[in-house]
Amino acid sequence: AVRATAVAFPNIALIKYWGKRDEALIIPQTSSLSLTLAVYPTTTTVTLAADGEQHQVLQDGAPMPQAASVKVARFLDHVGQLAGSSRGACVETSNAGPTGAGLASSASGFAALAAAAAAAYGLDLSSRDLSRLARRGSGSASRSIFGGFAVWNAGTDDLSSYAEPVSDAHVDAAMVLGIVNAGAKPISSRDAMRRTVETSPYNAPWVETNPTELALMRDALRRGDFTEVGEISERNALRMHAAMLGAVPPVRYLTAGSMALLDAVAELRRGGLEAYATMDAGPNVKTLCRSADAPAVRAALAAAAPGIEFVIAESGPGVAVSGP
Ligand code: DP6
Repeated sequence: AVRATAVAFPNIALIKYWGKRDEALIIPQTSSLSLTLAVYPTTTTVTLAADGEQHQVLQDGAPMPQAASVKVARFLDHVGQLAGSSRGACVETSNAGPTGAGLASSASGFAALAAAAAAAYGLDLSSRDLSRLARRGSGSASRSIFGGFAVWNAGTDDLSSYAEPVSDAHVDAAMVLGIVNAGAKPISSRDAMRRTVETSPYNAPWVETNPTELALMRDALRRGDFTEVGEISERNALRMHAAMLGAVPPVRYLTAGSMALLDAVAELRRGGLEAYATMDAGPNVKTLCRSADAPAVRAALAAAAPGIEFVIAESGPGVAVSGP
């Protein structure tokens, strides 16, 4: 349609994606499962340029930094190729949350870009194909095509690696995001995962235990067993960080502030409030809880960790595209 706008939300994995088997196509070593959140959307507009003009990438009205805009331009080339077009495009994007801080801005970013670019170039993709397309920008973006719980089937090639909704989940979950540090991360998740795969002796057990953990998670979601969902989530996050800590040199995203929040979450459980921590490629701690408990969890965490900002994130929707 020459011009299209898409809105997508970040997702946080409960069974993490960490490590690729194919870097160019972004085929992961393992399957993963996430909850899409209703906060920090990315809004992206793609407008096809006049003939002969190059891609242009603007973030909040200013040119995007070089490294990021090259990734976006390569992604647009791929979309153009699928559509049989060599036209350039202008991308205007803005993110309502902190970027590059382990709050999944690349997930919402590439999900919105995939949907807006596909529509602008006139591709009519199924949600599965849109998920495969978003995956090529950033792996976790494959899951932000869908709302609620989504599972990204690792697959073995471009066709078989896509996310889909978990349609039989019976858990009403929310997250309380603890913003330990909203700054950019010390090492990109892309580089950190490569280092983990290549050098960590804990990568193999991380990969081997994934199918069972994922199956247990799916079963717990189906049965509506929130306790089990929470326990699996927290240990899965810790195991991902264990795999990174085993890399050479070690990858450590967790800080003293993260550890203090892990303690605070454990203390909530001892007090009878069911809450479980999960951490990604950054120091921020996301606390999984029942949706109805979110205000109480937020208040308890704020009391335990003064000075840290806590944001309640309910389950959010999948990507939405609108016309001009
Ligand atoms: C820790 O999807 O950002 O958040 O595919 O290289 O772009 P690339 O990585 P990305 O990695 C996300 C890693 C994680 C876990 C997860 O979201 O599953």
